[in-house]
Amino acid sequence: MKEVRVAEALKSVQTGISLRVAGWVRTKRDSKAGFSFIELNDGSCVTNLQIIADKGLPNYENEIMRLQTGCSIVAEGLLCESPGKGQRVELKASAIKVMGWADPGKYPLQKKRHSFEFLRSIAYLRPRTNTFAAVARVRSALSYAIHSFFHDRGFVYLHTPIIVGNDCEGAGDMFRVTTLDINRAQERPFDFTDDFFCTQSFLTVSGQLEAEAYASAIGDVYTFGPAFRAENSNTSRHLAEFWMVEPEMAFCDLEKDMNVAEELIRYLFDFLLRECKEDMDFFNRFIDSTLVDTIKTLSDKNFTRITYTEAVEILSGSGKNFEFPVSWGADLQSEHERYLSEQIFHGPVIIIDYPKNIKAFYMKLNPDGKTVRAMDVIVPRVGEIIGGSQREDRYDVLYDRMQETGIDPEKYQWYLDLRRFGSVPHSGFGLGFDRFVQFVTGLSNIRDVIPFPRTPKNLDF
Ligand code: 4AD
Ligand code: MG
Repeated sequence: MKEVRVAEALKSVQTGISLRVAGWVRTKRDSKAGFSFIELNDGSCVTNLQIIADKGLPNYENEIMRLQTGCSIVAEGLLCESPGKGQRVELKASAIKVMGWADPGKYPLQKKRHSFEFLRSIAYLRPRTNTFAAVARVRSALSYAIHSFFHDRGFVYLHTPIIVGNDCEGAGDMFRVTTLDINRAQERPFDFTDDFFCTQSFLTVSGQLEAEAYASAIGDVYTFGPAFRAENSNTSRHLAEFWMVEPEMAFCDLEKDMNVAEELIRYLFDFLLRECKEDMDFFNRFIDSTLVDTIKTLSDKNFTRITYTEAVEILSGSGKNFEFPVSWGADLQSEHERYLSEQIFHGPVIIIDYPKNIKAFYMKLNPDGKTVRAMDVIVPRVGEIIGGSQREDRYDVLYDRMQETGIDPEKYQWYLDLRRFGSVPHSGFGLGFDRFVQFVTGLSNIRDVIPFPRTPKNLDF
């Protein structure tokens, strides 16, 4: 008796073999002729395995007849060619053991389609639906692909700290980490010298600064981990806890940085089409019918590259009435990014050379003194999926930029030191993993591409 996942059973070219499968009942139908059809799913693929149970089984009357959606079972039997239509093979059960019952009056997942809003309220059960199981498999496959992309190119995978003392983006959206007794904050003001680290500590917003230190020693590195931002943005593209892929490359200018970003995204597109075919077909069928074609087209198309100034000219000349007005110096909003990638360029666009005032302190100042060597990759539907830059590698210029942006250079002396000792031109970027998953699955809300989303006023599970 071979124990297999449903995906393997369905692919088996051999029939007449004895198999054991285990999973959850999606549906069950009893025929008058004295047997039941059980649709079994174990999360290994979208398709269910049909199990035929007949009344000869010793527990047919008292158990199998009582099986309902959501029950878990282990089934043994013979894999046979299916005479019915809809499936190539089916399992003729010789034994079915019920592992766990699910009261049909109480089990929240029924055969009908549920709304994504409802499923968010039962996030602990939604992986039992096709959509969320497919998202989980795609996330896993993409994570593997990301590691393999960098590994093949000689990058070192770096574990940057989760608890930090710095604010990489200088935006102040940080979650505090403390062991001080917050219930006593009324009695006496917080004294961080009494805190666990004897100083203020936070959850990281990005591993970039630490990655720069390692890139300045061992060359190309990348991090792939969670980032935390206490932005009060209740949008379909923001999470308070999200995952980010951050390569950092030494002896690297913005040009090469953009090339790596493009290469990575196209590699991931290819990987998905090749390795996640069933899941991608599922998203194409039920979420967005243009998905697979779009990804196919993009996987061998060069991304458009324009400067921020050109982007502003296109937007101002578009005659479109944007909610946020466009003017040189103002940050691009998601509606602007989407207009450029959806209406003008019909695909990913890389925008470079943003005004220094709307970007972080660490970006390299251009000779014009007004713009920095930033690059954002924007895509249809989602907007920004990558933010990156060439880093300021000149001590004095960086020092001045810190002061200009209200960052205390003393607290970042270690970071400045990287420019004092063997400074090199270097660049990197951060790919928002969840936004990328949003893009490739077609799901419209970022809360539906991560298992347990954290957003303002929402930490249910
Ligand atoms: O543009 P960001 O803020 O860049 C950085 O953090 C740099 N330190 C990266 C680097 O150069 N190493 O963030 C990078 C990407 C964004 O383009 C976006 O895709 C994603 O991270 N992102 C978020 N995703 C989900 N929820 C949020 N709140 C996000 N904030 C940023
Ligand atoms: Mg950004």
